[in-house]
Amino acid sequence: MKVVTLLNEKGGVGKTTVATHLATGLAIKGYRVLLVDADPQGHATVMFGLSKEPGLSDLLIRNAPYQRVLRPIPPEMYEIPGEPVRGRLYLISSNVETRNISTSMSNILVFRDRLLPLETTVDVVIVDTSPTPSMLHGSVALATDGIVIPTLCEMLAFDGVRESLLHRESFVSKKQELGLGDVELFGIVPTRYKQKTLEHTEMLEQLVEAFGDTVWKPVQDRIIWSEAARAYRPTFSYAPGSQAAMDAWNLVERAEEALANVPS
Ligand SMILES: Nc1ncnc2c1ncn2[C@@H]1O[C@H](COP(=O)(O)OP(=O)(O)OP(=O)(O)O)[C@@H](O)[C@H]1O
Ligand SMILES: [Mg+2]
Repeated sequence: MKVVTLLNEKGGVGKTTVATHLATGLAIKGYRVLLVDADPQGHATVMFGLSKEPGLSDLLIRNAPYQRVLRPIPPEMYEIPGEPVRGRLYLISSNVETRNISTSMSNILVFRDRLLPLETTVDVVIVDTSPTPSMLHGSVALATDGIVIPTLCEMLAFDGVRESLLHRESFVSKKQELGLGDVELFGIVPTRYKQKTLEHTEMLEQLVEAFGDTVWKPVQDRIIWSEAARAYRPTFSYAPGSQAAMDAWNLVERAEEALANVPS
């Protein structure tokens, strides 16, 4: 089981969008995926049109059994019409109570410990996090193998990338101290990219100059992403064959490559 966490303290940069597309895309391709909504806003949960209860706090604070919090997502909610889904997708919802996890946590390893029993049922865990840093982020980080940092290509957006990278460094040292391995940088994903905007093209150049190959192909800004979200569908299900769907598949492929390079 590998854990991938979406991280950026800036709001509205595409964390939830990338998380839900990685989760559904990997499930379509044959992985058994668990999407954990770790943001009190519960946006990843809303993206599937599901109720926010029970949620992550039930698992981490109240020790609720998995059968209660792990929800299988029916393939009809994300499949490409006419193509069978080869894997599986589960969701752990989130609600405002997720905010209380940080203060109620008795042990920083709680997230990792609660995931361990799923080792044989789940191949990949995708964690969507909130833009507000918390102890929960620390707990998630100790279970994380790789982070993905979505960012806009705008002036102030790079602060968020730098902050996330600094956090990663502190997670790495904590994890290594505990003998739990590394937290790799899987990728930095330019999102909502407008090719014809000078600011975006210049910022992308700077990003690539600074981080080279870890910068994934930008996801173009297209109206179809929010249309798909309003229809509670990922873009590859809502508009298969569209440019947006291609961009989404690109994300899934880069994630697969990064996952394949994580030592087991
Ligand atoms: N490539 C894209 N083109 C157009 N709109 C997009 C694209 N990607 C995401 N969006 C839209 O941008 C908005 C913010 O995206 P999202 O909710 O994924 O960001 P976030 O980082 O999770 O935000 P928060 O920090 O509040 O959790 C959403 O309305 C989403 O539909
Ligand atoms: Mg979000």
